[in-house]
Amino acid sequence: MNKRPRDEPSSSFASAPKRQYGAGGGGGGYGGHGYSEERSSARRVADHYSARSNQTLEERENSPIIHLKKLNNWIKSVLIQLYAHPGDCVLDLACGKGGDLIKWDKAKVGYYVGVDIAEGSIKDCMTRYNGDTDQQRRKKFSFPARLICADCYEARLDEHLYEDAPFDICSCQFALHYSWSTEARARQALANVSALLRPGGIFIGTMPDANVIIKRLRETDGMEFGNSVYWISFGEEYAEKDAVDCPEWVVPFHLFKLLAEEYDLELVLTKNFHEFVHEYLQKPEFSELMRRLGALGDGRQDQSTLSQDEWEVAYLYLAFVLRKRGQPPSQRRANNANRGKMFLTENDIDFLGV
Ligand SMILES: C[S@@+](CC[C@H](N)C(=O)[O-])C[C@H]1O[C@@H](n2cnc3c(N)ncnc32)[C@H](O)[C@@H]1O
Repeated sequence: MNKRPRDEPSSSFASAPKRQYGAGGGGGGYGGHGYSEERSSARRVADHYSARSNQTLEERENSPIIHLKKLNNWIKSVLIQLYAHPGDCVLDLACGKGGDLIKWDKAKVGYYVGVDIAEGSIKDCMTRYNGDTDQQRRKKFSFPARLICADCYEARLDEHLYEDAPFDICSCQFALHYSWSTEARARQALANVSALLRPGGIFIGTMPDANVIIKRLRETDGMEFGNSVYWISFGEEYAEKDAVDCPEWVVPFHLFKLLAEEYDLELVLTKNFHEFVHEYLQKPEFSELMRRLGALGDGRQDQSTLSQDEWEVAYLYLAFVLRKRGQPPSQRRANNANRGKMFLTENDIDFLGV
């Protein structure tokens, strides 16, 4: 499947000028590539994200999908506020440029480990963690952190993070579908999460909603659909490398749920973004956050708001929550004092085989 946003956004959402989705979901299975092809598609994803520059505040505000980006941030914030607790140890898989660091800070977490395959993104994440972006100088984050550049769907993360584990919460935002190119990678992603979470620990995430995407495809005459802010086309062309900037895969949710159970991860919640918004907007604390973020305007007449086309894109995504089976330990890990650092340099970033 080829998804082509109509602008060059920097959010975690529609991000590539030209994207390909392998329709693994169409046949109810995984994309079927060989090992080396797999590594090269992971490399292309990494290069794609590494090459994306940080937008200035002005460029961001002028984006035609600015409200969609704000909506995505609201959804991630709600998930974090619902499931993170003060002092929690966080594993942020595919953390990107650290766009969620502030959200974790607000949740008063105790320790943060971010992993991403894209070297450029992990370095940007370090800069943001140090409170030193060109756009703003913010106060330091209150939790120590560690950053790792790795393919989280290939590497045995538990072997590298045994001193940091167990984690109370793991997050994988807008990125788990990259693991669904082969069964081995989808399994490694879940094995990593399961091995690193404590019993009762939580796995939160967001990814494309295969049900909606396939439903939209069935309703369409041809093999493509879209609107003014995105475009998706299905077909075999994703095998033609020159047509591909950034391959992605559709995750059939029922298979994801079954596979997750094999790794002791039980489904707690899954909601399409539309349903998620309708439900959590009812809660005063989250509607107030939405007002502050301004995704749906701030209530003033002259305030712009999410367009119908952006709302249609939101329908293509879902949020999920899984829980690691077992009784939570009666006592929390003593402290985070010996873990991570409060200021990171490039030498502190661990590179695991990428
Ligand atoms: C759409 S961005 C989301 C970034 C961040 N989670 C957020 O919500 O802002 C997708 C991220 O997934 C990362 N990614 C893709 N495949 C990965 C892999 N195999 N291992 C680690 N990171 C990966 C990309 O480098 C990119 O930073």
